[in-house]
Amino acid sequence: MESRHPLDPFIAAADRALRAVFAPAHASRPVPDGEASTLSEAERRESAALMRVNHAGEIAAQALYHGQALVSRSTATQEILLHAAKEESDHLAWCETRLKELESRPSLLNPLWYCGSFAIGMLAAATGDRTSLGFVVETERQVEGHLNEHLERLPSGDTRSRAILNVMRTDEIGHGATAKAAGAAELPAPLRALMRHAARVMTTAAYWI
Ligand SMILES: [Fe+2]
Ligand SMILES: [Fe+2]
Repeated sequence: MESRHPLDPFIAAADRALRAVFAPAHASRPVPDGEASTLSEAERRESAALMRVNHAGEIAAQALYHGQALVSRSTATQEILLHAAKEESDHLAWCETRLKELESRPSLLNPLWYCGSFAIGMLAAATGDRTSLGFVVETERQVEGHLNEHLERLPSGDTRSRAILNVMRTDEIGHGATAKAAGAAELPAPLRALMRHAARVMTTAAYWI
């Protein structure tokens, strides 16, 4: 059997990071079906800004899970994290496609979101697998909240973006439920508040930049 070099996990993590930030995301499922409708210029800009926020959120989610997977103790936890990260990759690809259709671009600060979230993920996982899984539950709960808000805010005619967000929402609920079933610990309230604050900074910046 091939022996593993001690640096292998770090090289794999660097490879995942570079792909997430710089390579076009690869989707394993087709873009959710939604009729493309004509939007006014103001509506197109609003949809693009919201989809840019969602795209940045997916970059951050992938980075969190990649960071957590690198330092998780058990292979089972690592598998849950990498499986979730892979589905986030579909979300990333769908948001990317939709941004192009809306004649827009992802957030220029994506490398920053990735690095910051990767470090937070590593810190969260260093405290143990149950806390790490609790972090997944809280992240997904907050992402679900954002998606609900965006489903309300999207221009009513933008059925295509709405179809994407609906499937993402179903997946995020699944990620949270899987982590909970695997023994996630409830995070302390101050940490949950800190996560909400960090997410607000990111979503506000990504809306514009
Ligand atoms: Fe996602
Ligand atoms: Fe997720």
